[in-house]
Amino acid sequence: MKVLLTGATGYIGSAVTEHLIAAGHQVVALTRSAEPQPGRGWHAQVVGDTADPASLDGAVTPDIEAVIHLAPPSGDAEVDTAVIKALATPLRGTGHPFVYTSGVWVLGATGEEQEVGERAPVNPIDIVGYRPRIEQRVLAESAEGVRAVVVRPAIVYGRGGGIPAILVDRARTQGAPEYYGEEGVRWPTVHVDDLAELFVAAVERAEPGTLWHGVGEPAVPVRDLARAAGRAAGVPADPHVVPVEKAAEVFGALFADALALDQSVSGAAARTGLGWKPGRPGAVAEIGAGSY
Ligand SMILES: NC(=O)c1ccc[n+]([C@@H]2O[C@H](COP(=O)([O-])OP(=O)(O)OC[C@H]3O[C@@H](n4cnc5c(N)ncnc54)[C@H](OP(=O)(O)O)[C@@H]3O)[C@@H](O)[C@H]2O)c1
Repeated sequence: MKVLLTGATGYIGSAVTEHLIAAGHQVVALTRSAEPQPGRGWHAQVVGDTADPASLDGAVTPDIEAVIHLAPPSGDAEVDTAVIKALATPLRGTGHPFVYTSGVWVLGATGEEQEVGERAPVNPIDIVGYRPRIEQRVLAESAEGVRAVVVRPAIVYGRGGGIPAILVDRARTQGAPEYYGEEGVRWPTVHVDDLAELFVAAVERAEPGTLWHGVGEPAVPVRDLARAAGRAAGVPADPHVVPVEKAAEVFGALFADALALDQSVSGAAARTGLGWKPGRPGAVAEIGAGSY
C-alpha cells in the first residue's frame, strides 16, 4: 500500500516507517519542513502542518491507499477535527484505511479494575481532554466508506526514547531516581517496535470502526522503571516518589498529572483480533540493559 504518514519524523513515526517498508509498503511522509531527509526510506515527502488544516488540502492524492495519522494534537479541538476532515474525506467511499493515534490516557485512572479493555468508558485526564471526541469523529468515518481505525498506545519505550527517557534524564540530573504521584503508580507500556507492528497490522487488516489498545505490559510499577532508570543513569539508588504538585513545577500541571496516572490496561484484543505478537523485552529489562 502507499501510506500517507503524519508524524513520520517522530519517535513512533520513525519506527512505523521502518516496519511499513519492511512489510512491503510505501511511505509518503507528511512533514512540516520541506527539508529532504535522505536515509529515511520514504517513497515521497509532502509538506503540511496539522496546526493549519488548510495546508493539508491535496495531501491525500488519489494514489494514496491508506493514511496513518501520528502527529500529535494541536491543543485545539476545532483544528484537530478539521485535520481529520482534511485527511479522511478524500478516502470516503474507497474502503481505504484511516488509522488515528490516540492514547491510553483517555481512560483516566483505572482504579481497582485490572487490565481494562477497549470497551471501558473513557475518563480522560486534562492533557487529552477532548481526544475521545476526536476518536469518535474518526470512527464515524466508517459510515462514509472509510476503514476508520483508532489505536491507543500505552507508554512507549525502546530505542532509548519516549517518556522513560525522562526518568533516565531526571535520575542523571537529580543524582537519584524518581517517579511521580503515589508509591504504587503503574503504567501500561509498549515497545516502540511492537507498537509499529501493531500499526502495520491495523492498516493491513483492522475492520472499519474498530479501536485497539497498543499495550505490551498492562501495569508496570513505575517504581521498578525508575529503579532501572537510575541504574541506566549510573545512580543505582532506591527511587523516591515526588508528589504530583512538586512534579508540576518541573513538567507543568497537565503532564505531571499524566506521569502520575495509575493505570492497568489490557492489550489482549489486538493479539486475538489482529494477530499482533508483541515480543520485545519488557520495559524494565529494556531500560536496564537496553538502549538507554
Ligand atoms: N510516546 C508515547 O508514549 C505515546 C503514547 C500514547 C500516544 N502517543 C501519541 O502518538 C503520537 C506520536 O507520538 P510521538 O511520541 O512519536 O511524538 P514525537 O516524537 O513528538 O513526534 C511527533 C511527530 O509529529 C510531527 N508534528 C508535530 N507537530 C506537527 C504539526 N503541527 N504538523 C505536522 N507534523 C507535526 C513531528 O514532526 P516535526 O519533525 O516537524 O517536529 C514529529 O514527526 C502523538 O499523537 C502522541 O500523542 C504517544
